[in-house]
Amino acid sequence: MARLAAGVVLVTAHDPEEGAHGDDVGMTATAFMSVSLEPPLALISLRNDSRMDELLARQDQWAVSLLTDGQRQTAGRFAMKGRLSDRLLFQELPHSHGATTGAALVDGALAAVECRTEQRVTAGDHTLVIGRVLATHLTQGEGGPLLYYGGRYRSLG
Ligand SMILES: Cc1cc2nc3c(=O)[nH]c(=O)nc-3n(C[C@H](O)[C@H](O)[C@H](O)COP(=O)(O)O)c2cc1C
Repeated sequence: MARLAAGVVLVTAHDPEEGAHGDDVGMTATAFMSVSLEPPLALISLRNDSRMDELLARQDQWAVSLLTDGQRQTAGRFAMKGRLSDRLLFQELPHSHGATTGAALVDGALAAVECRTEQRVTAGDHTLVIGRVLATHLTQGEGGPLLYYGGRYRSLG
């Protein structure tokens, strides 16, 4: 799979049970794909013991921001296992909140989609989460997509 070039996204969701006003949670992922146009469905694959998997088991609203090659630091930070707090990471990451899901949308990303889970499929040590696309955002991302290939972040060209 290291030889399959993939776009890098940040999966986000709002945890209503953390902190005084809830907390933003984020996770770097490459396992994101479009599934269906009618109705519009998209899928993410979450490792079973990840915080995002635990959160999306009790909350069905989430978003995906498609990162640019200028956002590798963000990808790196949200992929660190055992990081102290996503709250601190979001304090340093310019973002807004999607009106539909309340999930964080990364400023300057190439695009973002907001989804509501329709189906969860357990598959080995991951869960496939299939969501209805409720809103799409084409943002003013500068630069090309952030790719992951051969175990490294890369740019096009
Ligand atoms: C480039 C890249 C792609 C990743 N893709 C996925 C993915 O699609 N699904 C997943 O569950 N974890 C993926 N991960 C791993 C998670 O980002 C990482 O395990 C994260 O720390 C899990 O969140 P947690 O620490 O809150 O449990 C990826 C990591 C990297 C660096």
